Amino acid sequence: MLIREFIPQDLERVYEIEKMSFSDPYDINILKQLYDIGCGFLVAENNKYIVGYILFWAINENEGHIISLAIDKYNKRLKIGTKLLKTAILVFKSFNISKINLEVKIQNKEAIEFYKSFGFRCIEKIEDYYEDGSDALKLFLDINELKHS
Ligand SMILES: CC(C)(COP(=O)(O)OP(=O)(O)OC[C@H]1O[C@@H](n2cnc3c(N)ncnc32)[C@H](O)[C@@H]1OP(=O)(O)O)[C@@H](O)C(=O)NCCC(=O)NCCS
Repeated sequence: MLIREFIPQDLERVYEIEKMSFSDPYDINILKQLYDIGCGFLVAENNKYIVGYILFWAINENEGHIISLAIDKYNKRLKIGTKLLKTAILVFKSFNISKINLEVKIQNKEAIEFYKSFGFRCIEKIEDYYEDGSDALKLFLDINELKHS
């Protein structure tokens, strides 16, 4: 399993994973724009086949935000999400960013459990956050309290 930086040739496959993972996926052009403006963008590759990706950026000099993270539905629970998030955390640390936040759909139990396994905690419920009217939970992690080594 290789974690590497996204390149534009990966876009179609990343979009495929995005569509299979979310009921309200980002448009392919948005994914490209996020790359173009310099967001962190990593992919997980298995035998040259992309099985997951993570997109993230710095909101300010001390706080990072996970924009999206998704694993191909046939490759879940193999610690690929863990590897991607750990690598993103290393990137944040290299920029002296020690806090991370993100929003997750309140019904998305697998993602909430996943983030809790890192030590993320819920700091806010945001009503009507998503287009379908679902609420979001805002999760927060102080990297110094990270559960993984
Ligand atoms: C959430 C997601 C990224 C997790 O990726 P993954 O590679 O399958 O997760 P990992 O194998 O690294 O799991 C690490 C830990 O997270 C927790 N976890 C992951 N999936 C879980 C599930 N379905 N139910 C309960 N706990 C889960 C477990 O503690 C797991 O450790 P364990 O397998 O030793 O019990 C993946 O399920 C996914 O792509 N979901 C759809 C997209 C999404 O919701 N993204 C997050 C919103 S930004």
